Amino acid sequence: MKTLKFYFETYGCQMNVNDSEIMKGILRQKGHEITELDDADVVLVNTCTVRQKSEDKAYAFIGRLNKMKKEEGRKIKVGVCGCAAEKEKKDFLRRQGVDFVFGTRSITKIEEHALKALNGERFMDFSDTLDEIDYHTPALRNSSHHAWVTISYGCNKFCSYCIVPYTRGRELSRSFDDIVAECQQLAKDGYKEITLLGQNVDSYGLDVDDEKVTFANLLRAVSQIEGMQRIWFLTSYPSDFSEKVIDVMAQADNFAQSIHLPVQSGSDKILKAMNRRYTRDEYIELINKIKKGLPGVSLTSDIIIGFPGETEEDFLDSVNLVKEVGYEKVNLAIYSPREGTVAAEKMPDDVPLEIKKKRLNYLLEVQKEMNRAFNESYQDKVVDVIGEAVLPRKPHLIYGRTSRNKIVIFEADSSQIGQWKKVKIHRVSAGPLYGEVV
Ligand code: SAH
Ligand code: SF4
Ligand code: F3S
Repeated sequence: MKTLKFYFETYGCQMNVNDSEIMKGILRQKGHEITELDDADVVLVNTCTVRQKSEDKAYAFIGRLNKMKKEEGRKIKVGVCGCAAEKEKKDFLRRQGVDFVFGTRSITKIEEHALKALNGERFMDFSDTLDEIDYHTPALRNSSHHAWVTISYGCNKFCSYCIVPYTRGRELSRSFDDIVAECQQLAKDGYKEITLLGQNVDSYGLDVDDEKVTFANLLRAVSQIEGMQRIWFLTSYPSDFSEKVIDVMAQADNFAQSIHLPVQSGSDKILKAMNRRYTRDEYIELINKIKKGLPGVSLTSDIIIGFPGETEEDFLDSVNLVKEVGYEKVNLAIYSPREGTVAAEKMPDDVPLEIKKKRLNYLLEVQKEMNRAFNESYQDKVVDVIGEAVLPRKPHLIYGRTSRNKIVIFEADSSQIGQWKKVKIHRVSAGPLYGEVV
């Protein structure tokens, strides 16, 4: 059979990154190649639709591909998958330049899809069942020292603003033993760190009829794997977060001391409208327990700005919460109505864009000041980092990450990627720390 050349363009979260890695792994095993765009026979666009802007990136790229087909006569087949594909389905197929569209739960059939498209067929394939996902073919990963490991699919939370439960379906946990086996193999293959992925990792196992299948137990099992040096996980959901997780993390020395616990808003009124199932006080109480059990832990969060009905007072509640918790980093996003969600259908998007932008900039400034002040404490200290990648356009510098999720930039060549390094910090900023290897 002919070897085909595939190019992947991946947008969105780590879930999509991991899905693309899985598809690449399947294609590699079938004898195909992963190449650059210029050489490709088949181009896969793995899309995101969490905000309108995320979706628009895919449209812009597809426009470019269409031009390559029409004006440059490139004979490529274009497949669209991922969350925007789930949302738009046949509307994607109507778009110029698109040959096939498939869903987040039929990625295992990637080769079959491509061959059909090369045969001249235009089609869609969406599946609700999960048995199609192939986790036994090794993924072709972007990194040789860090691996994404999906532990559950979908989400049952239905936050009123969020499209994910519609694009990724109901929550389903992967088999405990399969996950542990994959992590064991990764450690054997020389991977130093992994990130366990789920939209809500804390509810891992709730759909399985076995009380031992819990997130805390999974963390313990993974932490006991020989050679597993650093473990991260994403994303925690405040009211599902179990204190057992804190205990497990405190008892082993190979957990990154970092927890991503999105709050979304500091106002009880807005949290309720968002259908987040906790109050501000409950959230703070949990944060205090985490800080007590894991001293010095780094906390990160997501906050939505300008949710329907957000007054200046509600916004200031978010600002104060950011100050009170002292996050390492907060991802800020301007509210974007997503068709079909409760917020988009029932709540007018009534905060003017100008105000949303003003609030966003204000909170960015607050964060910057906090980070700069906090980072001062790193001056002249020595930290342990795993080198992650070369800095774009600065080949003599690489960046790495401490176990408290601090980005550190230092002079080294690419052979140091994936290695533990001791770095002495000689300069700090509101963002990364700068230092030299000691
Ligand atoms: N399951 C994770 C991630 C969900 S998507 C969680 O619960 O946190 C990642 C982030 O995108 C969310 O945390 C939220 O802050 C943001 N987001 C989701 N829908 C959005 C929308 N409609 N508008 C703006 N930001 C949104
Ligand atoms: Fe979306 Fe909420 Fe589920 Fe996160 S928990 S994926 S924000 S519905
Ligand atoms: Fe985007 Fe889907 Fe992830 S909407 S954020 S790619 S789950």
